[in-house]
Amino acid sequence: MKIVFATSEANPYIKSGGLADVLGSLPKSLVQKGHECAVILPKYQDMKLADTIEYVASYDIWVGWRKCYCGVFKAEYDGVTYYFIDNEQYFRRPGLYGYDDDNERFAFFDFAVLELLSHIDLKPDVLSLHDWQTAMIAALYKERYAYYEYYNDIKITFTIHNIAYQGKCDPNLLSDHFGLDNYLYYNGNCRNDGCFNMMKAAIFYSDAVTTVSPTYAQEILTDEFGEGLQNILQMRRHDLYGILNGIDYDTINPSTDPQIVKHFDKATVHQNKPINKAELQKECGLPVNPDVPLIGIVTRLTWQKGLDLIINRMEELMKRDVQVVVLGAGDLKYEEPLKAIAAYHNQKISMNLKYDFGLSCRIYAGCDMFLMPSLFEPCGLSQMMSLRYGTIPIVRETGGLKDSVEAYNEFENTGTGFSFKNYNAHEMMDTIDYALRVYNDKEKWNGLIDRAMDAKLDWDKSADAYLKVFNSLLG
Ligand code: GLC
Repeated sequence: MKIVFATSEANPYIKSGGLADVLGSLPKSLVQKGHECAVILPKYQDMKLADTIEYVASYDIWVGWRKCYCGVFKAEYDGVTYYFIDNEQYFRRPGLYGYDDDNERFAFFDFAVLELLSHIDLKPDVLSLHDWQTAMIAALYKERYAYYEYYNDIKITFTIHNIAYQGKCDPNLLSDHFGLDNYLYYNGNCRNDGCFNMMKAAIFYSDAVTTVSPTYAQEILTDEFGEGLQNILQMRRHDLYGILNGIDYDTINPSTDPQIVKHFDKATVHQNKPINKAELQKECGLPVNPDVPLIGIVTRLTWQKGLDLIINRMEELMKRDVQVVVLGAGDLKYEEPLKAIAAYHNQKISMNLKYDFGLSCRIYAGCDMFLMPSLFEPCGLSQMMSLRYGTIPIVRETGGLKDSVEAYNEFENTGTGFSFKNYNAHEMMDTIDYALRVYNDKEKWNGLIDRAMDAKLDWDKSADAYLKVFNSLLG
């Protein structure tokens, strides 16, 4: 089968979140299963491409009434072909998103993806779209491109990584940016809540809709999690699939990770994790002490990630015998109070308000526990990485957190982590206290570590689940 993915980010080239991890590992896994995969993404200024890419073609395309230059470069990585769409007006800027003309930038990208297929004869069986940035490809395909002979019979899937970002905008952009008739706003195909809504359009037009965990697939059908799209999702519920993301076990691997101090696997974790822990304590300026439980938090500092709970209980947590390492950047609303608390407790908290890939690996390797009390979490990859590094997650039972962390059962000695149900700071604190109690029982704690490291959260099964969906569309 030939599958083309369109995405706004993908490892190893550019990353702002988990989306990049998925697009850097799912195609690779499908290739290993004998399929042909290409990934198309914008050519951003921040990519370090140097001599790794090769020029393919350039031509003009239309974006609404605009005639735009479109250059194409390519690279091979892990058996996957990556295509980079070049237009300096749109993508020669720092960062990925957050510009006033983001809608126009990704309208350009959406056309560029569809045009590329015929320009270089890359017709896929399945065109797999991801999040709002590529959502309108589904509408453009069904309303326009599908009528050209070359484009006949391509199946379109749309994957929701985060329903909180939908590409909501002015109805006039439908014709101005996408050259589509306003009728598609008035008949509701591209409309939600009085806005032109790109994600709504993708849910409406795609042949199948997937999201990144089974629990999230259920949650987004409800008023609480649907962010206004629950009705259209209800309508498409027979074509909605929740497939848990995997992580790339080759690169996320404590026995080869070049970023960590002492490698380990299941056989050596109990000897070598303490070495990583001591080095992490040193690196973070915390007292080196093997016995004090060390809790890691690696996150974007946004409302999604449960920071309200963490900030609410941080003073309380400081009354316990613990150390905490925080790594992440984001909203000042969260950065400021975290900084303030850390200033009072600099022997117990290490606050690292930045992104630092190396340090994140050393946190996964060196911590005892990993705290992730998200308000909602479509899948979440950090808890999976923690498990892989024998670091016990403490999570809220939502989305992929619920599907990837099995709650500890002290009577049966099962489970890989600790979890709580309600978005409630006291429930979180009680769960942390429970974890701290179990931590003191070395035998039980080591059992948790062993089971965590046995959890199989790679792509093998999940890639098969995608193939099953693709095959069902191809008939
Ligand atoms: C988004 C979601 C996260 C998910 C990731 C990859 O970043 O917030 O939960 O793991 O996409 O699918």
